[in-house]
Amino acid sequence: MIILVADGLDKIKQGIESREVRIGIIGMGYVGLPLALLFAEERFAITGFDIDASKVDTLNRGGSYIVRIPSTEIQLAQKNGFQATADYGRIRQMDVVIICVPTPLNEHHEPDLSFVTDTVKAIAPHLRQGQLIILESTSYPGTTEEVVVPLLEHGNQAGLRVARDAVSPGFYVAFSPEREDPGNDTVARRDIPKVVGGCGPAAAELAEAMYGTIFRRVVRVSSPTVAEMTKLLENIYRCVNIALVNELKQLCMKMGIDIYEVIDAAKTKPFGFQAFYPGPGLGGHCIPIDPFYLSWKAKEFDFCTRFIELAGEINTAMPYFVLAQTVAGLNEQRKAIKGSKILVLGIAYKRDIDDLRESPSLTIIELLREKGALVAYNDPYFPTVGHGRHYDLNMSSTPLDKLAQYDAVIIVTDHSDYDYRTIVEQSQLVIDTRNATKGIESKRVVRC
Ligand SMILES: NC(=O)c1ccc[n+]([C@@H]2O[C@H](COP(=O)([O-])OP(=O)(O)OC[C@H]3O[C@@H](n4cnc5c(N)ncnc54)[C@H](O)[C@@H]3O)[C@@H](O)[C@H]2O)c1
Repeated sequence: MIILVADGLDKIKQGIESREVRIGIIGMGYVGLPLALLFAEERFAITGFDIDASKVDTLNRGGSYIVRIPSTEIQLAQKNGFQATADYGRIRQMDVVIICVPTPLNEHHEPDLSFVTDTVKAIAPHLRQGQLIILESTSYPGTTEEVVVPLLEHGNQAGLRVARDAVSPGFYVAFSPEREDPGNDTVARRDIPKVVGGCGPAAAELAEAMYGTIFRRVVRVSSPTVAEMTKLLENIYRCVNIALVNELKQLCMKMGIDIYEVIDAAKTKPFGFQAFYPGPGLGGHCIPIDPFYLSWKAKEFDFCTRFIELAGEINTAMPYFVLAQTVAGLNEQRKAIKGSKILVLGIAYKRDIDDLRESPSLTIIELLREKGALVAYNDPYFPTVGHGRHYDLNMSSTPLDKLAQYDAVIIVTDHSDYDYRTIVEQSQLVIDTRNATKGIESKRVVRC
């Protein structure tokens, strides 16, 4: 069904209600694919767009490339009309287009919006009246109004403009941040309230109606800018609090206090405290990156976001702290890091997931190698690791037998599959950055 704006908002909402609207989701990654499947579960016919031909092929063959999404879920979605394509010409057939492409940092630690701008430029020539375009990719406040809207308006030959109310002709635009926590099964995705900000009330109303079909609660805010800032506040809050416990951990170690015991006690307070845990450094596509989208934008206003900068400094230093602890642990055993055999446990950036983007393990491996250590790794989710934007490792996961051959084993990612008692029993030295060996008493363990 192609719905025109002249049909009125009620008609479009009826189309949503009857599942006749066609939804295109651009970017079939960790965010876009699960979103497509949620809509497909609700009997919407979804078209997934991606420039990665191997993803398009896999999906159209009914396969999956994300460990936590079984192929059967893709096949079920196909029964409801799900298909994948790389052909932007098909955008014209969509009533709603949701953009879920990456928003990384460039080599100067500044926002790299090229994936978003490439996508929007590719959509623009196929825009038509009445379409709703929603950006989900995390970005700085102002991206939707200052970048997405102008590119859409200037890139279409029909002279279409954004419709800021229900009677004006044009297309609708909204921003709605993704708030998923990969690997966290305690909250079902549909129970995570969806924040929506529209370029005008009509866009917000439509986006709310759309997301209301798959999320139990939709939270409407006054503008895309507020929605963009909401997402950044959530991630900055985490980044700053993780930095705080990372710093306090280092102090506690000097004072002979167990930071984990302290956090466990503090979190019994029924108000005013939320537990965050220290670790080997930040990972993933969100917490290490998103705060810097805001600190970059803040410069436009002659404003320095000191909390973000300080948190970044502390969190970025954590892999170096792990290296220092490893050197110290080996030193206690009269060994030098140069020439030592070291096994890194876990390449994923956090427990039980198949995502290694920005993983502290990658930095730790590189730091160990620079010091002349002979490094191996094990990760049940990554049989091999090649090269990416910030690493070039070309390694294969090594089996977990013969642990005694390593001078040190570093637990960087605390996957649940690991048998930590056996690991401690069989290793010469264990550097535990995640408190994974809690309750296992051994002089061979350094908790840091
Ligand atoms: N992964 C998370 O847990 C998470 C959580 C919240 C928010 N986010 C945000 O969501 C956005 C997407 O993240 P992700 O983790 O899904 O990324 P991803 O790398 O897993 O997936 C992005 C997909 O977009 C595709 N793509 C890139 N450019 C394209 C283009 N021009 N046209 C079509 N497809 C294109 C890529 O091939 C890839 O498949 C980012 O802004 C991220 O910050 C991610």
